[in-house]
Amino acid sequence: MHDRILPSREAEQRRRVAPLRISLGAAVTALALSTLAPARGETPESPPDTMAERVRACAPCHGAVGEGTKDPYFPRLAGKPAGYLHNQLLAFRNGRRHYPPMNYLLEFLPEAYLKEMADHFAGLNPPLPPPSPPTVGDDILAHGRTLVTQGDASRNIPACTSCHGSTLTGMEPGIPGLLGLRPSYISAQLGGWRYGTRTALAPDCMQAVAARLTEGDVTAIAAWLSSRPAPAERRPPPRGSYALPFACGSQAH
Ligand code: HEC
Ligand code: HEC
Repeated sequence: MHDRILPSREAEQRRRVAPLRISLGAAVTALALSTLAPARGETPESPPDTMAERVRACAPCHGAVGEGTKDPYFPRLAGKPAGYLHNQLLAFRNGRRHYPPMNYLLEFLPEAYLKEMADHFAGLNPPLPPPSPPTVGDDILAHGRTLVTQGDASRNIPACTSCHGSTLTGMEPGIPGLLGLRPSYISAQLGGWRYGTRTALAPDCMQAVAARLTEGDVTAIAAWLSSRPAPAERRPPPRGSYALPFACGSQAH
């Protein structure tokens, strides 16, 4: 199982990174320019240090307003809880989460800068993409639905809704919603936790959950979640709107 997932994930990353080298080069240059721009007294050659300049480097992969792109592996950023986005930027910068272009891009950015970018994307709210038509049979979709909405007590798997919310929109400050994500992205993230390439602050509750899932569970969950229509209210509710079944280190700030 291990052998099958990791090489294919790495191969996928290599495949996706290679054609991006040129645009990433341009992106890094744009970011470096904006980082180095003087706070005042800009010359015509140095762009002002505005948020629009800072996030220009992100647009090729995350969309102009963080809405995501056609690439099924590049996640949407817009409207996710600010604390969640901030935690992810820190995780990429500090190596708790791995994706080489992101690790490289954020390597030297100060924490305050990352927080401002997180707040920026959290405040945007373009519509969610249309649901992905399921490519699996009804029995697999039903299995995904059961795991997400009820869990499986016999295997100690909690319902995903117990933390991600009954409408799957997440909760402030750091629990992301699970709708509007594509199946390959969801599978890769759950795989990352199962195999330790994605970790969150301890206690890493998602690692505990993902470790209990089989590959078949992950496929079913990814297919069902990505087939769901957008909820009417997409914003994550405020902190403390419901109690989590067990602690997540990422929520303690
Ligand atoms: C070369 C493409 C690329 C560029 C440029 C890029 N990203 Fe990413 N980003 C990704 C990919 C792919 C992922 C998912 C990686 C993974 O977990 O395997 C990601 C993940 C993220 C996440 C976590 C999303 C989530 O839901 O967990 C955040 C936040 C993020 N990027 C912010 C940014 C910001 C801010 C910039 C600009 C400074 C940026 N990214 C530039 C490709 C890119
Ligand atoms: C005990 C609470 C808890 C439970 C139960 C839980 N999650 Fe999570 N989940 C979290 C937290 C907290 C995060 C954010 C972790 C971080 O900061 O990286 C998260 C993040 C995620 C992400 C990453 C989203 C993104 O944009 O990258 C996915 C996917 C996910 N969870 C899926 C699930 C699924 C599927 C289940 C049910 C099988 C589940 N979660 C159950 C707390 C939980």
